[in-house]
Amino acid sequence: MPQQKKDYLSDAWKDGLFSDKVLFCTGGAGSICSAQTRALVHLGASAAIIGRNKEKTERMAADIATARPGARVLAIAGVDVRDPKALQDAADRTARELGSIDYVIAGAAGNFLAPLSQLSANAFKSVIDIDVLGSYNTVKATLPYLVESAKRSTTSGRVIFVSATIHYTGLPLQTHVSAAKAAVDSLSNAVAIEYGPLGVTSNVIAPGPIGGTEGMERLAKSDPASVAKSAKRVPVGRLGSVKDIADATVYLFSDAGNFVNGSTVVVDGGSWRVNAGG
Ligand code: HXC
Repeated sequence: MPQQKKDYLSDAWKDGLFSDKVLFCTGGAGSICSAQTRALVHLGASAAIIGRNKEKTERMAADIATARPGARVLAIAGVDVRDPKALQDAADRTARELGSIDYVIAGAAGNFLAPLSQLSANAFKSVIDIDVLGSYNTVKATLPYLVESAKRSTTSGRVIFVSATIHYTGLPLQTHVSAAKAAVDSLSNAVAIEYGPLGVTSNVIAPGPIGGTEGMERLAKSDPASVAKSAKRVPVGRLGSVKDIADATVYLFSDAGNFVNGSTVVVDGGSWRVNAGG
């Protein structure tokens, strides 16, 4: 019997949707990507989560595995997405141990608040390297596997990049992240066009203000009233939840998302249209 879906996934999805599929997810120990992974595992997938921190990655993999009895969730730790060889090794190990790579989530990201005047060239480069080079390294290492899995099934061979909405309008203290996420979006578009003919689709999920994430926790620390204020400013009147992102992920990877390629699914309750930076 599958576990309770609790608060991380809609009841709209049927159990076993992703049986025999394998997910490769960078940043999988983080709040958003762990919910995406948990949803897929709940619905039948095996997964490898890739992270820098050993303890955090292993603890999260074990926790995600409780979403479904018998689930296989591999923790591949000590991997910095800026290191192409480490990512290639992680991709090869995932395919070897779990049998294939059907889905990729490029979710590893770096972020901190800093005014441009305080942002060193190295600080800017660090975020560009984690977000952009890291996303490139992720797809570069996994695309050969995705092409192979796309030959076997029309619901395999899919990539999701986790981006943001802040670069649509610009946001103070986020120059580095805005530049990085704009590049991530462009990377996804290019992959969509170049690899679409090979059966691989690529899309972006752009989360808005999502409750319970590291970003929101940092905001709450800097100003405890800010989170409630943020929620009020969202047109639908609430913060998003990681479940909202998980549901968009399931849609894109499912048969229902077959014809979606080179798109951005903005999951923000309409926020960026009325609030600079989402
Ligand atoms: C100014 C800072 C800084 C800060 C670091 N730096 N924090 N500058 N203000 N708050 C500078 C350092 O001084 C250094 O520059 C450079 O950045 C690199 O720092 P390192 O610590 O050496 O780098 P590294 O260990 O690689 O860490 C990368 C990191 C760190 C991005 C700086 O925060 C990190 O590892 N983050 C990963 C986890 C994370 O951020 N997750 C949140 C994702 S949420 P100098 O010049 O001194 O050498 C997310 C949501 C996006 O991404 C959506 C936006 C709304």
